[in-house]
Amino acid sequence: MDQPLQIQHPILETLKRGILSAGEIPLKYLNTDKQIENKSPVNLLTIADKETEEFLVDFLKTEFPHDGLLAEEGHEYTGTSGFRWVIDPIDGTTSYAHGFPAFTISAGRIDENNHPVLGMVYQPLYKELYYAVKNSGAWMNQRKLQVTEQKEIASSLIGTGFPYNRREIMDQLMKRLAHFLHNTHDIRRTGSASLDMVYVAMGRLDAYYETGLHPWDTAAAALIVTEAGGIVSKFDGSNFDIFYPETIASNPYIHSDILRLIKESKI
Ligand code: IPD
Repeated sequence: MDQPLQIQHPILETLKRGILSAGEIPLKYLNTDKQIENKSPVNLLTIADKETEEFLVDFLKTEFPHDGLLAEEGHEYTGTSGFRWVIDPIDGTTSYAHGFPAFTISAGRIDENNHPVLGMVYQPLYKELYYAVKNSGAWMNQRKLQVTEQKEIASSLIGTGFPYNRREIMDQLMKRLAHFLHNTHDIRRTGSASLDMVYVAMGRLDAYYETGLHPWDTAAAALIVTEAGGIVSKFDGSNFDIFYPETIASNPYIHSDILRLIKESKI
């Protein structure tokens, strides 16, 4: 991981230092007692979520003292610069808690209009560092990212996820899932929204959709997708908003098909 970043940008360089160090924390606990707590019957919290968030908050506060911050496990403060960090210490906590190898650390920097301007998503197990700066492209380690050119929805591989309130919206989730299964090659579910989205940026998935998301799940990855040539929107096709729970991330060719399948499967 000591290869240079492909975008020369001082904030990105600093963030890389913080996120690579933070990535050691979930690895340290991976094969030990993760001290799992329940935020709800299906929403878990581990010692690694808490320690990673503490580490990143301290790091960002020191390095960017004028920026504000919003983090999944409760840290939040305002700054004076107009910029804010939105962080998920472990995105994919359920996967992590079970030892399933699909979890990331996600950090996005948003401006005063809540638009992401810089994002980094790190998969510490596989040492994959995804990053983007607005108008400068997106990368994974040394590789420039580009969404797929798949134009046929019937030949597309689609990612999705099932939110923590799934028991209340099961009929809608299942109807939508069935419609996608009928009309695409197949569905994948990693258990980490940011990982699903950077997989769209990288071309491992053609598109992804999910509802019930939070800003820390999408702030960094949404920019990585758009900088890789993809489209990120709400379910009705309107502009993506990190505070709105519905998100589609897609290559530009099948975006309208994704919108159509979502509309056709609405209860
Ligand atoms: C969750 C993951 C999961 C998605 C959930 C998210 P967390 O984030 O991204 O894939 O289905 O909606 O809340 O809780 O592991 O940080």
